[in-house]
Amino acid sequence: MTAKTATLTVGSKTMELPVKSGTIGPDVIDISKLYGATHNFTYDPGFTSTASCESKITYIDGDEGVLLYRGYPIEQLAEHGDFLETCYLLLYGELPTKQQYDDFTGRVTRHTMVHEQMTKFFTGYRRDAHPMSVMVGTVGALAAFYHDSLDIADPHQRMVASIRMIAKMPTIAAMAHKYTIGQPFIFPENKLDYASNFLRMCFAVPCEEYKVNPILARALDRIFILHADHEQNASTSTVRLAGSSGANPFACIAAGIACLWGPAHGGANEAALAMLQEIGSVDRIPEYVRRAKDKNDPFRLMGFGHRVYKNYDPRAKIMQKTCHEVLGTLGIKDDPLLDVAMELERIALSDEYFIEKKLYPNIDFYSGITLKAMGFPTSMFTVLFALARTVGWIAQWKEMIEDPSQKIGRPRQLYTGAAQRDYVDVTDRR
Ligand code: CMC
Repeated sequence: MTAKTATLTVGSKTMELPVKSGTIGPDVIDISKLYGATHNFTYDPGFTSTASCESKITYIDGDEGVLLYRGYPIEQLAEHGDFLETCYLLLYGELPTKQQYDDFTGRVTRHTMVHEQMTKFFTGYRRDAHPMSVMVGTVGALAAFYHDSLDIADPHQRMVASIRMIAKMPTIAAMAHKYTIGQPFIFPENKLDYASNFLRMCFAVPCEEYKVNPILARALDRIFILHADHEQNASTSTVRLAGSSGANPFACIAAGIACLWGPAHGGANEAALAMLQEIGSVDRIPEYVRRAKDKNDPFRLMGFGHRVYKNYDPRAKIMQKTCHEVLGTLGIKDDPLLDVAMELERIALSDEYFIEKKLYPNIDFYSGITLKAMGFPTSMFTVLFALARTVGWIAQWKEMIEDPSQKIGRPRQLYTGAAQRDYVDVTDRR
């Protein structure tokens, strides 16, 4: 079979560019030699047509609404698997055997505590600090405490750092929450599973017994699975770019958390709930839909649309079901927010503007309502996203470091500023 190529003509120069095929998904045109051969860069702001790396971890078909972790459909993992099993799958490439699962769970469990000195970092913040700012700072600070897992050239240290972050993220996230509401930190309880332990650290108080609701724990575990990885999204690309310079893994994950915070990315779950609250009642929906369609109004329906999914986000379908389960378990029958959400979804899905632009509800649309019902304040929504996405960031970071062809990420630009000019003394400037 002859290798596929693409022919590119720039002015008088013609070049054959190799075309590479993955297991599934679109082919890619390899332009890595383009600059050397033609002295041209490619231009793709927002990377809408650019594959930034080769990866074996997650596959998305946005037109068909497909999401696979290491080949396994998200629906099957969410239905039958659990989060730590998913972590193992993302990190190692295969589902664990029973023994591997027990061993991995044991290793994660033994790293759940944070260095006692870390508590000082929390208490340095204002009580009203957004917990995402606390996350960015404290996760970055882990590098100052765990010197024995900073050598990125050592595979053992890379894995120790990875396990540490998966294990400590719930503890740090819960501490951020407790600090904001002025309650004492709750230590991890290692006999509990990952999600139950997190619920307990968030909602228990030292003076009372706390019983984890297993249905809520299972729902939270499923939410973690749904958020665990999502290919080369903005925060993952941030982690890869930060890691490409050889930065330590804790610093890279802190960079990912900072990127995730934005309302166009992970911050959308908080923004979606705020929007539902602002709309307030079903009769006001048409006004907001009209605003979302108005080109002169910057308002967008938060929780709608996705860069990659131009079909229903498969995670949103599972999230919608989980949302109903949680509300049912908690006996919440008439939640006005849910009424607004359901009606907004119905109107948007039958509106020509949203149909034509393929704007479907994304995962953030339903996760906010679910997390609110569980008792999390809106400011914690993106923190939970960060907690769950940590494994995806780490798996992608490890894959990049372990790729022998890895180099520092260094995009170029189309320069449109002033051409070279001479310095003018301040007294001569007009
Ligand atoms: N409401 C109204 N109009 C929209 C929306 C929306 N939520 N999203 C996109 N559009 C319109 C947009 O105005 C544009 O119209 P036109 O072609 O007439 O200029 C068109 O649809 C394409 O939009 P775009 O901004 O070029 O698309 P994008 O791929 O750059 O943006 C997005 C994707 C997710 C940033 C965007 O849909 C958005 O801002 N959605 C709301 C925020 C949100 O829910 N984000 C969560 C993403 S899922 C979680 C995650 O993975 O982080």
